[in-house]
Amino acid sequence: MTILVTGGAGYIGSHTCIELLNNDYNVVVVDNLYNSSKKALDRVKEITGKDLKFYKGDILDKDCLEKIFKENDIDCVIHFAGLKAVGESVGKPWEYYNNNITGSLNLIEAMKNAGCKNLIFSSSATVYGDPAQIPITEECPKGKCTNPYGWTKWMLEQIFTDMHTADPDWNVILLRYFNPIGAHPSGLIGEDPNGIPNNLMPYITQVAIGKLPELGIFGNDYDTPDGTCVRDYIHVCDLATGHVAALKKIKENCGVSIYNLGTGVGYSVLDVVNNFIEATGVNVPYSFKPRREGDVPQCYSSADKAKRELGWEAKYGIKEMCRDSWNWQQKNPDGFGEAESL
Ligand code: NAD
Ligand code: UFG
Repeated sequence: MTILVTGGAGYIGSHTCIELLNNDYNVVVVDNLYNSSKKALDRVKEITGKDLKFYKGDILDKDCLEKIFKENDIDCVIHFAGLKAVGESVGKPWEYYNNNITGSLNLIEAMKNAGCKNLIFSSSATVYGDPAQIPITEECPKGKCTNPYGWTKWMLEQIFTDMHTADPDWNVILLRYFNPIGAHPSGLIGEDPNGIPNNLMPYITQVAIGKLPELGIFGNDYDTPDGTCVRDYIHVCDLATGHVAALKKIKENCGVSIYNLGTGVGYSVLDVVNNFIEATGVNVPYSFKPRREGDVPQCYSSADKAKRELGWEAKYGIKEMCRDSWNWQQKNPDGFGEAESL
């Protein structure tokens, strides 16, 4: 079976490529390398000892997509490609809607033309907005997003669902990720944010390694056990196996199916900091800062549906997530920028 992985050089995409190759899928990647490095794919080959086909291309480029579908017999698309910086999306709505929505419309047009109607999409817990219930089940209604990035996920879920309504031969699996952290245990691939990180774990690892002076914790007056926000952190390698589980499901002609990919366990920001210190023995200085706009107090999943229907559940705990994030950071202090010397 041949899988087209859009955005396959990125953080989650590269970890998923490993799982696909390890499960004997043929892998074709398209990525414009806007937020990633080709070195990640070289590392994927090194880790697995297997090859994949790479197109440096843009999903905004219809000709590129047509060419890929002409040259490969694609059975299913796993669609990661997109812009993902929440804060940036507020100042650049056009860029986010154009890249994420137009790019995805191009993709499904190329899929339609090629007769490929199996799609697994990287959605996000952000579509729940301020969740109506905790833990969040898939039946929980979608909420109001607080930024254009979130709306692109919200809208794309609807667009892909409508494709199935119009033509029931389409199979669409919407995977709503919670908070991916960690890295491949080899330390060869991991998250490589540009500039100062927006997300918690890369910020922590950069403080731990001395690139940043201290962590600012956004808010300690939330209605949570210790006053800091609670999230469902999931190891990126668990997320990767979730995609292989979804591929098995899509072969059963599942129609539209939605799954949370989380652990079902919530950790506060302070829990994460303390677990990081315990797992690595490295201190992380922090101070409390005002709340960050758009943050919801609590967001964690019910992971029951994925377990029941996909036979999938997360295996790694918070300490392993911290250990592997730190291992990646230590081995690659400048991400893939300095990776060539390894
Ligand atoms: P990432 O930025 O590391 O990966 C996305 C990849 O898509 C990058 O390699 C980038 O170069 C590529 N890309 C972007 N626009 C493209 C285009 N027009 N054409 C071709 N390639 C393009 O991000 P990630 O963390 O690996 O996220 C993957 C997907 O999962 C994204 O859709 C993201 O929105 C979604 N997601 C991520 C998180 C998270 O916290 N990381 C949470 C929920 C959902
Ligand atoms: N946080 C800090 N200091 C920082 C960074 C983050 O205190 O320097 C806090 C945030 O306020 C939040 C928690 O750490 O309480 C997690 O923040 P992240 O930015 O790591 O993650 P979010 O939960 O805000 O967002 C993530 C992804 C989004 C996705 C969302 C879905 O980044 O793409 O999960 O729930 F939409």
